[in-house]
Amino acid sequence: MYRGRRLRATPVSRALIRETSLSVSDLVLPLFVVEGEGICREIPSLPGVFHYSVDRLDGIVEQMRACGVSACLLFGIPDHKDACGSSAYEENGIVQRAMRRLRALWPELYIIGDVCLCEYTDHGHCGLLDGCGHVLNDETLPVLARVAVSYARAGADMVAPSDMMDGHVAAIRAALDEAGFGNVAVMGYSAKYASAFYGPFREAAGSAPSFGDRKSYQMDPANGREALREIAADLDEGADVIMVKPALAYLDVIREASRTFNAPLAAYCVSGEYAMLRLAVDHGVLAESAVWESLLAVKRAGAKIIITYSALDAARRIKEGLL
Ligand code: PBG
Repeated sequence: MYRGRRLRATPVSRALIRETSLSVSDLVLPLFVVEGEGICREIPSLPGVFHYSVDRLDGIVEQMRACGVSACLLFGIPDHKDACGSSAYEENGIVQRAMRRLRALWPELYIIGDVCLCEYTDHGHCGLLDGCGHVLNDETLPVLARVAVSYARAGADMVAPSDMMDGHVAAIRAALDEAGFGNVAVMGYSAKYASAFYGPFREAAGSAPSFGDRKSYQMDPANGREALREIAADLDEGADVIMVKPALAYLDVIREASRTFNAPLAAYCVSGEYAMLRLAVDHGVLAESAVWESLLAVKRAGAKIIITYSALDAARRIKEGLL
């Protein structure tokens, strides 16, 4: 008779048969950078996550170094917004300045820049609008490409377009190559769903759409097979890394993508997933291990790169042998 408990009897036997483990090298920490000076301010919708001004990035870099998290995904919150998101590609834009500062603080840090317009447009949509408030696809592509090239100039190792415009990876790849940045990688937010789980992020980034929603560009949560098509398109266009986002409610999509494609797969454990677990833990409803269980599930489903607001805590636990 099969007795599964035999091998579950001791910590050593459990470790021997453990199928999945998290590594510090899997983790990417999202960072929010704001204008101003001396700012290191906790984000109300994301307890434990902070807004940093460029001059205060040294503190978080120190923490990342100490626990070995060597990759970050940057989001900028500019002072100035307009209809076409022009502050996203300024040479002295908030993200560009943050990248140069991070590079100076830690030359080996892997810097990923999120490429999107929603934090920079006054209407909060991820692309340019026509006169009727529809998001224009092809007209947005050159703007995204311009943002990506300006990130590359500022020292990005990788750019990650999260706008969900069709053809965005191809447009960005071509522009990077033409500008001499053939070595800058592209991570497509390939299967990005129109999800309620982005709520706390939009509060943190001031990027909620001022009207309507993102359903005309982000995917319908009901669709799994369509995700494979989106991912295939990003790969055809030259994506180096593909992504499923959110993670927890889309583990089936992560699994399917990991089995279908021979490309590094990332999963974004988004703000709402983090907030949901964190609030439950803070209120004593869940044990903190619920957070690690969730990250492990994302890895088990097939993701390699895990983008998570819990990266520092997870790394500390991994280093202490607790995860
Ligand atoms: C920008 C962007 C969003 C997130 C990452 N890039 C928000 C959105 O699409 O509305 C969400 C990240 C998170 O919730 O943690 N388009």
